[in-house]
Order: sequence, then structure tokens, then C-alpha cells
Amino acid sequence: MKSRDRSGLALILAPVGRDANIAADMLREAGILSVICPDLDCVVRELDREVGFVLVTEEALLGRDLRGLSGWIKSQPEWSDLPFVLLTFRGGGLERNPDAGRLLEMLGNVTFLERPFHPTTLVSLARSALRARGRQYDARERLHDLQESQDKLRTANETLEARVEQRTREHELALAKLHEAQKLETLGQLTGGVAHDFNNLLTPVIGNLDLLRRRLQPGDSSHRLIDSALQAASRAATLVQRLLAFARRQDLNVRSVDVGKLLDGMSDMIRRSLGPSIEVEIGHAPDLPPARVDPNQLELAILNLAINARDAMPRGGALFIEADAGSSEGVGALKPGNYVRIAVRDTGVGMDEQTLARAVEPFFSTKGLGKGTGLGLSMVHGLAAQLGGALTLVSHLGEGTTAEIWLPRAAEQPNAEEIENRQAVNAPRDARILLVDDEDLVRSGTSEMLSDLGYSVLEASSGAEALRLLRTGEPADLMITDYLMPGMNGVQLIEQARPLAPSMQVLLITGYSTIAEGPGAAIPRLAKPFRQSDLSKIVADMLTREAPGRVVKLADRRAKTRKTA
Ligand SMILES: Nc1ncnc2c1ncn2[C@@H]1O[C@H](COP(=O)(O)OP(=O)(O)OP(=O)(O)O)[C@@H](O)[C@H]1O
Ligand SMILES: [Mg+2]
Repeated sequence: MKSRDRSGLALILAPVGRDANIAADMLREAGILSVICPDLDCVVRELDREVGFVLVTEEALLGRDLRGLSGWIKSQPEWSDLPFVLLTFRGGGLERNPDAGRLLEMLGNVTFLERPFHPTTLVSLARSALRARGRQYDARERLHDLQESQDKLRTANETLEARVEQRTREHELALAKLHEAQKLETLGQLTGGVAHDFNNLLTPVIGNLDLLRRRLQPGDSSHRLIDSALQAASRAATLVQRLLAFARRQDLNVRSVDVGKLLDGMSDMIRRSLGPSIEVEIGHAPDLPPARVDPNQLELAILNLAINARDAMPRGGALFIEADAGSSEGVGALKPGNYVRIAVRDTGVGMDEQTLARAVEPFFSTKGLGKGTGLGLSMVHGLAAQLGGALTLVSHLGEGTTAEIWLPRAAEQPNAEEIENRQAVNAPRDARILLVDDEDLVRSGTSEMLSDLGYSVLEASSGAEALRLLRTGEPADLMITDYLMPGMNGVQLIEQARPLAPSMQVLLITGYSTIAEGPGAAIPRLAKPFRQSDLSKIVADMLTREAPGRVVKLADRRAKTRKTA
């Protein structure tokens, strides 16, 4: 019999004589099935399964150990109040039957039926007991359903809470990132503006100090004063340069760079800067694609990171620099695409959360007065951002730091020659160069370099002299002029020379990048100090780009100034 079917079942405990069988027969005739129990233990056992009601005789209970049964009755769940039908002998009210009174209390939901009784009375009592029990089972079902839906609601609530929490966390994180980005952006605009003005102010300061020094007689005691002023001014210029870098307003010379070779080239310098107590490991993926970056600035950035790592490892440790191809996935600041990733990892002291959050801010430093300017990471961040990449930092206190520079991949291959051995490029064709510099030593040095490359060189020591030469019809394919010269600066010279020699190309030699903006912005330029290879490349590049029809051949003149064949 399935437990489900037992809800209409009568449990009969009437151990004396044939009472139990008679009662069972009466019930069966009315369509009620029953189970006859020989003793109380059987009743308690059966009660643990479903039953409709219990029919029990008074004598089956009196003087028995009823703890099992009363325990079961007391521990019924809240929906259950099992009906009992108690067959008594004596009737006439409880006061005359105190035993029945005690049983009433214990059994709870009990109906007394005095013997002898008419079968109809038993059947009607049994039916009403079963109906009552049926309602209890209904209540159980409803309670069960209620419980189920409550459970469902609770789990839904819990997952909802968890989901809300998760979304809130994500939202907060995004907000924090946005805030961080906005803060850096604002700082960048502010410092960029200040740095730009400062840079403009420094140009005449340095330029005039430079001019002043050149006017002094050798041995003049003012040399020392001017030199220290120049030193301070150029330190300020370096600082301003880093600020401009942070503000992404740096004058960059971007090209396709083989980062692996660049790292190899830096290896000695890094080892030297870090000292013997720090183990340095530099490596890169074999199929590393080229990156779009200014190689000189990248070297500076990597050096900055290496020096930060050194400072974080006062008692020694290890520095790992690795480069590989990276995809932007998961790096918030990056547009989707392909990148070159340079990871600089140290085993140093690491940063706590607050330090990490502020590390990139300009002038944020924990290194104490005079030790750090707090512009190292700012510069690296600005450089990467200006190039369309990013700087990411991961650090935990006591667990070291990993800084990653992400750079966009270059579509074209790097100029192999340039990286191989920085070889100078010989003159791609015959060309005549007008070289203008007021400083004799510098001019003759540059002239030597150019002649050595195979160019013919015409020298002028001032803007005025250069203009005079051009007016007399001296032909030139290219004019290379210094920027800072007495009387007329390089940009002014170029402006006045243009109408005199419209097809002549011009190259500006500059000490600092201010002329990158303003009237000279569009003029190709080369920063001082430069090497012959730098000069050779830019000159060759300019001369090969020029339409060949415009070239004025000057083979005869070239032979005069050329030193080596
Ligand atoms: N590798 C690192 N390990 C632990 N802390 C670091 C690391 N790199 C940077 N920091 C923390 O970030 C701060 C800012 O670094 P940042 O390079 O911008 O400035 P700095 O090193 O203090 O000064 P500067 O680089 O201008 O000489 C540091 O002062 C230091 O607290
Ligand atoms: Mg630093």
C-alpha cells in the first residue's frame, strides 16, 4: 500500500477478544479500510506513516506505558492533530470516569464512544474523523506549497541580492576607473598647459644664456655663473619635458620599432644601473611583431621602470623584462586590437592600494624630498597613451610589482639598418647642402659629417650670410640651419629663404622641441645632439622624397668640398 493511500486508513488497537475484528468489519462495510495493531508499539510505528484516525479501546491504554504515544502526539507538525476515537465502557461524563479525563488530555483530538454502540454511530464518527484528517492533509499540502514558494522566493531573493551586489561592485569599479581616468585627464590638461608655457619661457632663457656665454672672452669669471644658470635651466627643461610627456603633448618621433632588439641593446645599461645585487633577465617572444613608438622615449620609459624596480629592491632581488604580442582583451584603457606588451616585473616591496592608486599621478612620490620627482610613471603613462597604448600596474605589498607598457603594433617592418648598427646612410644622389650655424665648431663638425656622406656642402655662419648666398644664385637642394642664432633664428631664416629658393628643402636643428609648435611646426627637424647616422638618415630621406626633376646637379662643386670618395 502506498503511503499516499493511507490517508483514509483507520488504525485499530483493541487487543481484548474479537473487538478489533468486529470494528474492522463494521468500518469495511462503510468502505473504510483499517489496520489492526496488536499493541501500542505497533501503533506508534504505524503512526509514522500516514493514517486517517485511530480507533482505540480504553482498556488498551489504561495502565500502559503511554510515553511513546504521547511523545508522538506532542511532536506532531503544526498542520496535524490526529483524531482518536476512544471506546469506553462507562459513560455519563468525565467526572465519573477520571481515567478517561486523563486520556482526553493526552490524546487531544479525541471522541468518546461508549460501548455498546450502534454501528452507525461508529461509522459516522469514523467519517467525521476522516474528514477532519483530510482537511489536515490538505493544510499540509498548502503549507508544503507555501514553504516551497517561500523557498523559491528566498533563493530568488538571495541570487537577486548577489546579482545586485555584483552589479554594484562592477558599477563602482567602472566609476572608480572613470574617476581615475578623468583625474589623470584633468591633471594632464593642467600640467600640459603649465608645461607648455614654461617650455616657451625656457627657450629664450636658455637661448640667451647660451648667446651670452659665447660672447664672453675665454677665462672670464662669469663663465661659471652662466654655466650653472644653464645647468639649472636645462634641468628645468628636462622636467618640463617629462610633464609634456605626461600630458601627451610630447614631440614624438614615431616609427616601427623592433622592441626585442631595443631591449637587447638596453641590457648592459640596465644591468649597470641596477648593480650586482639585482638579477636581471631580459627576454622576448621569438615572433614579436614591431611596435609603433618613439624608440628613444621608449628606452627612457623602460629605464624609468627599471629604476623604480631598483628602488623597490634595496636588498636585492630580480628584475624581469619580457616583451610579447598581446591582445587588448581585458585591458580597460585599450581599444580592441593587436599590441606589443612589454612587462617589467620586480620582486620588490610592492605597493599598497593607496600608493598604487596614485602612482601615475605627476609629482606623486614616496621617495622623500629630493629623491624622486614623481614624474617617472607619469611620463611612461603619457607616452603609452599618446601612442594609443596604455600603462598598466599590478602590485601587492610585499609581492613585487609588474608594470606593462602596451604599444600598438606597427603595420610595416622596422627599418632594419637603423637598428642593426645605426649605420650612416650615404648620399643617395648628388646633392648640395647649405649649412647654416653661427658656432664655427659645430658647423665645421656637421660639415665634415655631411661631406663624409658624399654631399657637397656650402657653409654660412649666419642667417644673413645664408640669404646673401642664395640671392647670388648659389643653388642648394637642402638648407640645414641651426635654430638659435644671433640676429635671425632658423625659422625666420627659412621664411625669408623660401621665396629665394622655392624648390630647396629645409631642415631645422634644434636644442629643444618648442619649435615643434608655433610657426616652425611643419618644418622637418633634428634634435641636438645628433649622431652622423641620425643626420644621414633624415637628409637621405628628404632628398629621396624630393621629385628628381627639381634637382640641380652640381657634380663639379661637390668634388671640391668632398673629403672622401
Ligand atoms: N616598482 C615599484 N615598486 C614599488 N613601488 C613603486 C614601483 N614603481 C613605482 N612605485 C611607487 O610609485 C611612486 C611613483 O613612481 P614614479 O616613478 O612616478 O616616481 P618616483 O620614482 O618616486 O620619482 P622619479 O621617477 O620621478 O624619480 C614611487 O614613489 C613609488 O612609491
Ligand atoms: Mg620613478
